[in-house]
Amino acid sequence: MHSEDAGMELPASGHDPVLMNEVLEALAPAEGKTIVDCTLGRAGHAVEIARRLGRTGRLIGLDVDPRNLEFARERLVGKPETGNKKPEGDQFKDKETDKNVCPTLEGKEMLPQCEVRLFHANFAELGDVLGELGISGVDGVLADLGISTNQLFDPHYGLSFGRDAPLDMRIDSRIRRSAADLVNSLPEEELANVLYQLAQERYSRRIARKIAEERRISPITTTERLAEIVRSAIGHTKEKIDQATRTFLALRMAVNQEMENTEALLKNAPRFLNKGGRFAVISFQSMEDRLAKQAFRVAEQTGAVRLLTKRPVGPGDEEVLRNPRSRSAKLRVVEKV
Ligand SMILES: C[S@@+](CC[C@H](N)C(=O)[O-])C[C@H]1O[C@@H](n2cnc3c(N)ncnc32)[C@H](O)[C@@H]1O
Repeated sequence: MHSEDAGMELPASGHDPVLMNEVLEALAPAEGKTIVDCTLGRAGHAVEIARRLGRTGRLIGLDVDPRNLEFARERLVGKPETGNKKPEGDQFKDKETDKNVCPTLEGKEMLPQCEVRLFHANFAELGDVLGELGISGVDGVLADLGISTNQLFDPHYGLSFGRDAPLDMRIDSRIRRSAADLVNSLPEEELANVLYQLAQERYSRRIARKIAEERRISPITTTERLAEIVRSAIGHTKEKIDQATRTFLALRMAVNQEMENTEALLKNAPRFLNKGGRFAVISFQSMEDRLAKQAFRVAEQTGAVRLLTKRPVGPGDEEVLRNPRSRSAKLRVVEKV
């Protein structure tokens, strides 16, 4: 998620899953299959996938954010104290009855019945997760890249220039360096490169110079101060988006090492697919989409996979109207041969 359009209607989960029908069609979840959701988020996709896996299927879920993971766990297996599941450290397994409902959401949606195994893990560690479960092949892998809407607007993460918060941006609590650490310590030229390379910020040098000036006065520690610095460096433009948008995007990607992790996932995931298994990737930015396009092309050339989407699949008019945040989503899918 991408630009900051606060005020739009959101489901009770705090995140509206994009391209749902297209994802379900691509992964074709069915009784007895094993599907991995590498980016569980608020479990929007995962719940719909899990429901289609029946009693004998298995959903494996990963997220780097312990808060989203906990929310997803309640939607998929219920609260621990309700006695609905059997916690095993970071993992949860459940085969419960029709009476189980998710306590988190209004309307109490039904819990899926398949086996559910959840991990606080980076999708770059997918091989380790499957190794721990003793699984050599799965039938589908979903990666819905980026962050969820609730994360964007929760001041806890310091991701938004729309409200003041500590300048943090770490989605995974295991990450050492926050956005404030980068902004206050990277050499000016390196900072400019981060802004240009990760978000194609054309005013990168001007912004980096202004940041370097300002941090000599006092460390930059809040989202509001950084946004003001960026706006004053750029000045007025005709663009519809806030001038701080690209700087915040680039810093988030740098803090969370999004490109490196995505590259690792794209390279490794096809290896874990059973024959006929599918890998679906949703991206929201040109850099990510380019990575997926290139990785899939290389995998196809080696004969490992078949490309199912010659062109990326985007949302239809109805979805964009209902959920404008979906407008930049692109889905690419490969199938293991
Ligand atoms: C766009 S949201 C996914 C939303 C989800 N599909 C849903 O329907 O609710 C992306 C999620 O991926 C997680 N994430 C981002 N990078 C990750 C990584 N490298 N490994 C695992 N999870 C990651 C984020 O914490 C966030 O919860």
